[in-house]
Amino acid sequence: MNHLIRSVLCTTCVICVTPSIAHAQLGEIIGKGIVRFDASDEARVNRRPSIAMVREFESIGDIDASAHPLVPSFSKNDEGRYVASIDIEAGTSLYGTGQVAGPLLRNGFVTETWNYDAFGYGLGAENLYTSQPWVLAVRPDGTAFGVLADTTERCQIDLREGITFRGVGYQFPVIVIDRESPQAVMEGLAELTGTIAMPPRWAVGYHQCRYSYNPDSRVKEVADTFREKQLPADVIWMDIDYMDGYRVFTFDDEQFPDPKELNRYLDSIGFSNVWMIDPGVKKEDGYFVYDSGTEHDVWVKDASGKTYTGEVWPGVCVFPDYLNEDVREWWSDLYEEFMAYEIDGVWNDMNEPAVFNVETKTMPEDNVHEADPELGGTDDHARYHNVYGMQMIRATREGVMDANPGKRPFVLSRANYLGGHRYGATWTGDNSANWEHLDMSIPMTVNLALSGQPFAGPDIGGFAYNGDGELFARWMGFGSLFPFSRGHTAKGNIDKEPWAFGPEVEATCRRALERRYRLMPYIYTLFYESSVHGTPISMPTFFADPSDPALRSEDDSFLLGDSLLVVAKVTPEADRVAVLPKAIDGVEWAKFDFPSFDGGRDSKDPDQPDLYIKPGSIIVTAPVTQYFGDRPDQRDEITLIVHLDANGEATGTLYEDAGEGMEYMMGEYLLTTFKASREGDDVSVEVIDQEGNMEAPQRTVKVRVIE
Ligand code: NOJ
Repeated sequence: MNHLIRSVLCTTCVICVTPSIAHAQLGEIIGKGIVRFDASDEARVNRRPSIAMVREFESIGDIDASAHPLVPSFSKNDEGRYVASIDIEAGTSLYGTGQVAGPLLRNGFVTETWNYDAFGYGLGAENLYTSQPWVLAVRPDGTAFGVLADTTERCQIDLREGITFRGVGYQFPVIVIDRESPQAVMEGLAELTGTIAMPPRWAVGYHQCRYSYNPDSRVKEVADTFREKQLPADVIWMDIDYMDGYRVFTFDDEQFPDPKELNRYLDSIGFSNVWMIDPGVKKEDGYFVYDSGTEHDVWVKDASGKTYTGEVWPGVCVFPDYLNEDVREWWSDLYEEFMAYEIDGVWNDMNEPAVFNVETKTMPEDNVHEADPELGGTDDHARYHNVYGMQMIRATREGVMDANPGKRPFVLSRANYLGGHRYGATWTGDNSANWEHLDMSIPMTVNLALSGQPFAGPDIGGFAYNGDGELFARWMGFGSLFPFSRGHTAKGNIDKEPWAFGPEVEATCRRALERRYRLMPYIYTLFYESSVHGTPISMPTFFADPSDPALRSEDDSFLLGDSLLVVAKVTPEADRVAVLPKAIDGVEWAKFDFPSFDGGRDSKDPDQPDLYIKPGSIIVTAPVTQYFGDRPDQRDEITLIVHLDANGEATGTLYEDAGEGMEYMMGEYLLTTFKASREGDDVSVEVIDQEGNMEAPQRTVKVRVIE
């Protein structure tokens, strides 16, 4: 990324801090290396429930806050904002701060948590669709700490001089996680905010979307073409035009007369399906969702107590108050009938919530939510705005699970809040089809991961505008390796399926998708590790060596798990040189490719990112499949890609389960650790550990040693 924007941001959005800074007196230990600071006794007593965290964390011991190296200074500024600042030592690199459009390294930037329908956003946008009031700080020696401002309110995160949060409405506590490495800090964040649940394996495949595939015959045509052209893909998406007049939970009679038949057809050729549901419910007597919601009194009210209305796709709408448990139950129940159309996954969009034709693009801040006491009780929209979408997907997830007991839910949400990865995946909203957005898509996805959302990715190819084949090919090259990998485009744009730009681009897309599917055993294992430890799936390259200052701003590349480095070409000329991690004990990270030996094509192609394997690693791959279930679970044959370290050894793990269902939680899985060792001129591989009750398959294990 270029860093031009920094100087622009430095001159805007200044909110000055008053000099009357008082050090926090109260620090309580709530986990290993984790301390929560309050500004005062009063602030501690009046602390609001945390919506980010999985549970309430009681103090396990007080500390002398003034002796803590990272004690925040609390104060109130001239504008009435509550301020908490932490000094950083020179050479500390800052990351996270949620969904940000710009470089990976966040020093010098100011952002604000305020979920926003940011169609057409540009480099340096101050706030986007999700809010994560969190900063990851990496000291010069590679040790790290994280700082969480535990507030749902609008909160500025100012990284121009140290770390400063300026929140409105409430004296929020600050939680500091101080650990030996950035990875360990991210695990600490997951201890507080939870981890993702294992997704169904189909959701780890490639997704194809557009606004919109309609009518149903077009959906089938697109799905059929993937299969005819042997382009691996698992999922096809139904955007809003499947609905009857954009009324949620309905289907257009003419264009989608038989959604179940459509889903069955898709299933018969190995496609899972995802259908969109928005929060805005058309205000129309006789429409069952509106009538039922009115009867159950579920709508958000304005300050005078009347039902609030705002315009979205269907015209005048009302909005469920997801902060309330009864309303969430009502919303969850709506999914019973909906999912019975054999729907696999749900896409909740526009849930900032977006409102048309008003300057703020959302509902008034003085609207009222009857929030559960555990969430903080009745209060205004200003307080709950940033968690509206999170609570929506919480209810959606419940509904999807109730409707399909025993199946793993998949929910994608546009808006979200810190901790919302527990309920759904996120994408980076309405980006644009240009090189700047292609370039941004790596640091955006990685900073989201560093803010606790590992299951994320951009609209590959760009949502707004058309772009051209070169841009599309390049984006698909590395986009196919993001944790959430989906192509999407806006209404009115040209076709953007992998074949839409001619045979050359199609061939590049095929190679890219085949790479993802070959790497599927490895990628699925990363999802497992994330679900257990909270480890990011796509990580910054500096995770390879947090003490190497040269890697701190490297964001043309990312690590997919510890062992695989993806180096993308993010300019049309492919002329930027990425900084690679240093050799380990004299052994370099080794470049490798996929030859055409296991059912796939040779993946050499100038539009593909370069792949490097870490010394001492084994990456488990499998023959190309066209979708999950195609060759049942790729368990009949695997290929271990081995790169030995200076001692002539390498290790790697493989997680396997049924790919669907909850039995893995009862031990129905297999976690295998392989070890490779050099023995003379040979390399031998053995299984050194195996965990789980799933039967170990008889299979062919091939080994490729990369030098
Ligand atoms: C806005 C979303 O960001 C976009 O992805 C979607 O296609 C449109 N809404 C239409 O539903």
